[in-house]
Amino acid sequence: MKLSAKLSFLVFLSTMLVIVGMSFSFYNVSKSFYKQQLKEDIEHRLAAHRDVIENDFHTSTLEHVVVMEKRETESFFIIFDQDLNVINSTHPLSESSLVHYTSWLVSQDQERGKTEFVETIPEHIPHVWSYIPIKVGNDGYGYLFIDQETGSFEQAQTQLFVITFAMGALAFLLSAVLIVFLSKKITDPLVEARDYTQKIAKGDFHINISAKGNDEIGDLMKHISSMAKQLKEYSDTRQQFLSNVSHDIRTPLTYIKAYSALMKEKNVSVEEVKEQSAIIHSEAIRMERLVNDLFQLMKLEEGKLPMTITEVNLNELLNSIIQKLQLEATQKNIQLDLLVEKENIKSSIDPERMEQALMNLLTNALRYTPNGGRIHVIIEDSTSSTLIKIADTGEGIPSADLPYIWDRFYRVDKSRSSRHGGSGLGLAITKQIIEQHQGKITVKSQLHKGTTFTITLPKSL
Ligand SMILES: Nc1ncnc2c1ncn2[C@@H]1O[C@H](COP(=O)(O)OP(=O)(O)OP(=O)(O)O)[C@@H](O)[C@H]1O
Ligand SMILES: [Mg+2]
Repeated sequence: MKLSAKLSFLVFLSTMLVIVGMSFSFYNVSKSFYKQQLKEDIEHRLAAHRDVIENDFHTSTLEHVVVMEKRETESFFIIFDQDLNVINSTHPLSESSLVHYTSWLVSQDQERGKTEFVETIPEHIPHVWSYIPIKVGNDGYGYLFIDQETGSFEQAQTQLFVITFAMGALAFLLSAVLIVFLSKKITDPLVEARDYTQKIAKGDFHINISAKGNDEIGDLMKHISSMAKQLKEYSDTRQQFLSNVSHDIRTPLTYIKAYSALMKEKNVSVEEVKEQSAIIHSEAIRMERLVNDLFQLMKLEEGKLPMTITEVNLNELLNSIIQKLQLEATQKNIQLDLLVEKENIKSSIDPERMEQALMNLLTNALRYTPNGGRIHVIIEDSTSSTLIKIADTGEGIPSADLPYIWDRFYRVDKSRSSRHGGSGLGLAITKQIIEQHQGKITVKSQLHKGTTFTITLPKSL
């Protein structure tokens, strides 16, 4: 069953239930209210007639009462004597109804009056029969009796049915309009959403979602749209990733293949063999590094690289890293120093991983800072965190590239031969390592002036 059909059925059923329930209870309430009113009215009429008759007993008074009752169109009024003979009545009486009336009266307590609803037609508001005894002096004289019809209620009932029917028709019409509206508003976008998800499942991410609005349907459409965008990005990055990997592996392989082919030739001198095998060796190292980096990045991204956290003296760690790079810095005539505001700043880290992250940042700084530049490593300690800043006076990074430098294989200068530049994995690995330490890394850079990377490490892990 389609959703729109289910909805229509539900709306229709609930409106019908409400209408039927309302009509039924309205009918019952009005019926009992009417019966009560009728009973009180008749008893009141009989009591008034009795008072008039008893206060001023005269045959003309009896006639006067009958004349008054004749005005009532829906009732029989009868005056009986003590032996249940008819003294006077508003209408001529048939023999059979008289038998009914007298036998009912006989069954009653003669001393008191009574009102009773007598079923004449089943499932109908019954006639109401009521009598009251009258006395002259201390002696009983007879009875006043009324048989009242319920015709006016019949009319009201018909009107009620007409109103209920009209209400039902109106509700039916309204629910039909509502159903059309609901299916337009809910079902159409859902069908659209289903088609889009089918398209996405087939790998087509080019979807143009029209649904607007802040309701749940609008939200669903927005989520589908952003899911499609993310999947497209994911698929593009995957393509990009594969082409980057194959390119970065193919380059050293080309060298290895070419130089080993040269070495195979007989007339290669010992000098040449040395030179060419050195190239092959360095390319193999490059390949090995690339594969290691990729493997490590994958593990870091999956969160599968275990960390061994210990309390480390950051001053000592950074000093030893700087020592290792000092030679290279001197060769490039770059001033590389460590600036600390106090001794023995401690931090809970995995020293091996942190060294790797810092090495990546420092080798970048050395690589992208021209001769004669400066690199400062600064450690700042506060009660809540420890900051490590690596500031260089290098070429800087264009602001348009800044958000992407953390991406795998991203290099600002794409034309740079990968023999001189790196493969673009260093910062991706660094960011992962810092995040595994619950820290964060940010960058500020000015073109041709320099770049500063800031690592913020929390005091306790
Ligand atoms: N200190 C810096 N100054 C200027 N540019 C930088 C600096 N650090 C990083 N970059 C830019 O960000 C890019 C990405 O750096 P990343 O360390 O990820 O890759 P890489 O150094 O090129 O290669 P790898 O680190 O894998 O050997 C670099 O190619 C470079 O363009
Ligand atoms: Mg690097």
